[in-house]
Amino acid sequence: MRYRLLPFSLGLLLACSTERSVTSTSTAFEAPLATPIPKAAAPRLADSAMVVSAHPEASKIGTQILRRGGNAYDAAVAVQFALAVVLPVAGNIGGGGFLLYRDRNGSAGSLDFRETAPARASRDMYLDRQGKVVEGLSTAGPLAVGTPGTVAGMVTLHQQLGKLSWPALVQPAVDLAAKGFQLTVKEAAGLNHFRADFLKYNPGSTPAYLRPGGGEWQAGDTLRLPELARTLARVRDQGRAGFYQGETARLLLAEMKRGGGLISQADLDGYRAKWREPLRGRYHEYDVITMPPPSSGGVALLQMLQMLEPVNLARAGYHTPLAVHFITEAERRVYADRATYLGDPDFGYVPVRKLLEVDYNRQRMASLRAQGRATPSSEVAAGANLPGYESSETTHYSIVDALGNAVSCTTTLNGAYGSRVVVPGAGFLLNNEMDDFSAKAGVPNAYGLVGGTANAIAPGKRMLSSMTPTILTRNGKVALVVGSPGGSTIITSVLQTILGVVDYGLNAQQAVTAPRLHHQWLPDVIDVEAGALLPAAQDTLRAWGYHLNPRLPWGRLDIIRVQPTGKLEGGADPRGDDTALGY
Ligand code: DON
Repeated sequence: MRYRLLPFSLGLLLACSTERSVTSTSTAFEAPLATPIPKAAAPRLADSAMVVSAHPEASKIGTQILRRGGNAYDAAVAVQFALAVVLPVAGNIGGGGFLLYRDRNGSAGSLDFRETAPARASRDMYLDRQGKVVEGLSTAGPLAVGTPGTVAGMVTLHQQLGKLSWPALVQPAVDLAAKGFQLTVKEAAGLNHFRADFLKYNPGSTPAYLRPGGGEWQAGDTLRLPELARTLARVRDQGRAGFYQGETARLLLAEMKRGGGLISQADLDGYRAKWREPLRGRYHEYDVITMPPPSSGGVALLQMLQMLEPVNLARAGYHTPLAVHFITEAERRVYADRATYLGDPDFGYVPVRKLLEVDYNRQRMASLRAQGRATPSSEVAAGANLPGYESSETTHYSIVDALGNAVSCTTTLNGAYGSRVVVPGAGFLLNNEMDDFSAKAGVPNAYGLVGGTANAIAPGKRMLSSMTPTILTRNGKVALVVGSPGGSTIITSVLQTILGVVDYGLNAQQAVTAPRLHHQWLPDVIDVEAGALLPAAQDTLRAWGYHLNPRLPWGRLDIIRVQPTGKLEGGADPRGDDTALGY
């Protein structure tokens, strides 16, 4: 089924023709008002194996593990722990994440090491007596912290799929933390920016993230993390028990007691990472494997791909008003579904099957026909004016090994530096993932996302996530490994990257460099990165009823595209210190 032609100018109507053109034809870029494809550095190429992560040290450690005979899962463990040292803004052992894999034999799995609400958490814990959300309570400080899942996740991954010894995978991170590493411009700026918060949320201790002797960090300064090194050494030596029991647990619980946090030893003992069956879909000639709930990302991504498949995006042109119209309307509709239906599937029924029915999604787009203009979000579902969002951090890494195993992992503390609480004596940052719950129905979280009962707080429950680790295969072989941080924008960033590669024939580096657009139903605006739309395209979109919101860059896509020849092509996001390395 193709959508009916819209009452736009004749040139634009062609975009809805029933035949799909070859994606790499130049016509894609010559459509009226198309944004020129952004210039990007040449993608990093490799013959056998590749790691793309948010930090050069982590990518280096990952490739060293691969060269020593480790597989992609070993490399993922080593990269995860390395990022916990060199990328304090998001890399973590005090947070959680989702890891999706597809092995060389074609089987796939997803590991959910998302944080959980502590047993003492309750639905209204962030409300005052009048029932209003108390600002800041779910976003910083000890009450914002969910029971961390990362160490359990890495142990589970390694036990099931790893090859090298566990200590060998943790040791590089121990060394990095003990010896220290040089701060990049961006990390120095991030730590300086949050200096006041580190002081505020760590009374009575002096986190190593504050520059010794005071003052501001400079790029090139060495950051040493001796307490974190000792914690990582316990994890190296004792595995799961090195974090959830003994000295590390004792220090974590002492901090909870000091600051009024809720995590108990029973929460730590009870935490389990979970294997989940990945979601599968199809987009043109690609099979799409992606993350199931408690991520909303996979469901939303597959819904949008179903909605967009009938549209000839290549003919509509790159970032033309018509292409943006279709993509935005798909985004608007799935984020409305997200707010209502998505939550932890272990705590309530999530109608995944229904949401992924092709007829359902094509029907959701049927309202486009009559209008030929923006559909106000208030007509898609009831909504209210909501404030904008804050930007913060998560991180993603993509790995392909020489055997063809692929890993796509997104991991997070939620906001930048999480709750900003550093466990005294243990040196690691705790997440503020509790803010991903819906503190109150209809009240937006830090990303402007709203939710209801499906994502209400309950003891032991996992908060809904947007993290969307995804792998595309073609003719049975891995074709694209993709994912990103960016809170609510993750899903649309992953979508645009897939469309960039599949519909517009971009290489991996172009696809991640390209300026982005984002719509999430509420607020009813299209966020626009500089350079994403020509001025004339913006005028047209405004005339069609869209509200455009210029916004600073977001997302850090770290992707691997496998060329038809089998060569690996890395795309590392230039918005960060992201680095692709391979051999
Ligand atoms: O799980 C989620 O959806 C969020 N906690 C992710 C946060 C994030 O990506 C922040 N990064 N920029």
